[in-house]
Amino acid sequence: MAQVREQWATRAGFVLAAAGSAVGLGNIWRYPYVAYENGGGAFLIPYFFALLTAGVPILLLEYSMGHRYRGSGPLSYRRMSQKWEWLGWWQAMLAFLISTYYIVILAWAFSYTYFSIGTQWGENTEGFFNHQYLGVTDTFWNFGGLQWKVVLPLAILWGFIYLVMRRGAHGGIERLNRILIPVLIVMIILITIRGLTLEGAVDGLNVLLTPDFSALADYQVWIAAYGQVFFSLSIGFATMMTYASYLPKNSDLSNSGLIAALGNSGFEFMVALGIFGALGYLAAQSGTGVNEVVAGGIGLAFVVFPEIINQFPGLNSLFGFLFFGSLVFSGLTSIVSLLEPGIAAIRDKFDISRKFAVNAVIGGSALVSLLYATKGGINYLDLIDHFVNTYGLLIGAVAMTLFVGWFANRLNTLQNHINQVSDVRIGGWWVASLKVITPVALAAMLAANIITDYQVPYGGFPYSGLILMGWCVLLALLIFAIILQNKRWKANEELVDPHKEGA
Ligand code: ALA
Repeated sequence: MAQVREQWATRAGFVLAAAGSAVGLGNIWRYPYVAYENGGGAFLIPYFFALLTAGVPILLLEYSMGHRYRGSGPLSYRRMSQKWEWLGWWQAMLAFLISTYYIVILAWAFSYTYFSIGTQWGENTEGFFNHQYLGVTDTFWNFGGLQWKVVLPLAILWGFIYLVMRRGAHGGIERLNRILIPVLIVMIILITIRGLTLEGAVDGLNVLLTPDFSALADYQVWIAAYGQVFFSLSIGFATMMTYASYLPKNSDLSNSGLIAALGNSGFEFMVALGIFGALGYLAAQSGTGVNEVVAGGIGLAFVVFPEIINQFPGLNSLFGFLFFGSLVFSGLTSIVSLLEPGIAAIRDKFDISRKFAVNAVIGGSALVSLLYATKGGINYLDLIDHFVNTYGLLIGAVAMTLFVGWFANRLNTLQNHINQVSDVRIGGWWVASLKVITPVALAAMLAANIITDYQVPYGGFPYSGLILMGWCVLLALLIFAIILQNKRWKANEELVDPHKEGA
């Protein structure tokens, strides 16, 4: 007999958990540099296009699947069709894979929150990050052993997350979000106000907001927009399905989805304004152009921001603490949502206790995370992140829209389901988008990614690394997904649509 499904205590608890999942490193660390690198102000056009053609439709699709079929990824798909359970495993395993490196970036942020006290990173922030802190090795295959400065914060964070996850969706995840999100909002408002009121902030904003329309002709910009929307909204990795499966039967879906999506984007813009204001200030202090002080990727948070903090007119430690603390808080509410799809999936399938599932998933993720805590770790992290975002999530999302829209043909059922339980009715646009526009757009992105990677090996990494840690890992996920699909369900009475069979 299957166990009783977990449930959120309130609708607000669900909305907060969904928003907490969405708002994370993707908003504070990733969005500002992605927007900057991809056309500045003009990036808003592909960003909104991606949000409307894929982000919001898929978010609502995940909500409706999880809610109607009351299951984690694998169970929701299995209840629609026996042959497609693998896709639920694929998506849940992607979430698991992201959790293995996401936690390491959190560990860096955690260390930097501590380093903020007395700005311990010194004057050469790049040297500090790469050499003193990470101890980066010179070649890709040189792992260089564990970097204890990273392993220590990693262990502390894992310990904390373990305690949260053991307490379940309501007692652990919901409570964590209720405490951290209000604090996070205050922290971000303070950072943004400070960033915008610094001398030279306007120059930074000009760089962020001045549209470079020629960027729109570059398909890479569109790819970046879709990648950002997926990562930032936490879609494509069964999180939202799992979270929606914990909602009571008559719970609003569309309104909650729109609140989460708009809240996430609003948060993203606000943070970007604050950060670019601060970059403008740094440029003014160093007498250079803003373009010279902006570094892409990981560097923006861990190299450039400490530099900005060094230059602050006052309260340096406090603002460092606020910035890196906000990364930690936002990341904590997201990492729990990356672990839950796997926990829920194995509980549904094997009918095991939460404790057992949490031990297995967190134990496994913690073990893999050690790979990125080696001295060569930053390279492996960069590579896996690329493969997850450019291939894993897109492959899953294309398969998902084709399956639900065409093979199982359930979009109308799901649309009716949303409209029955929600305040805001969703129209035919949703079905049309998911049936045609979303799969076509995503398939085009996928093809473009393959062509780009074929022309230039990603990140200058060796082919051996790209094949072994990229393609082979994705292939292994697929094989695992198929093996898991073929395993027997412990509680077979579960495998029907709970709405149809009167369950
Ligand atoms: N959605 C999460 C983030 O933006 C994963 O960081």
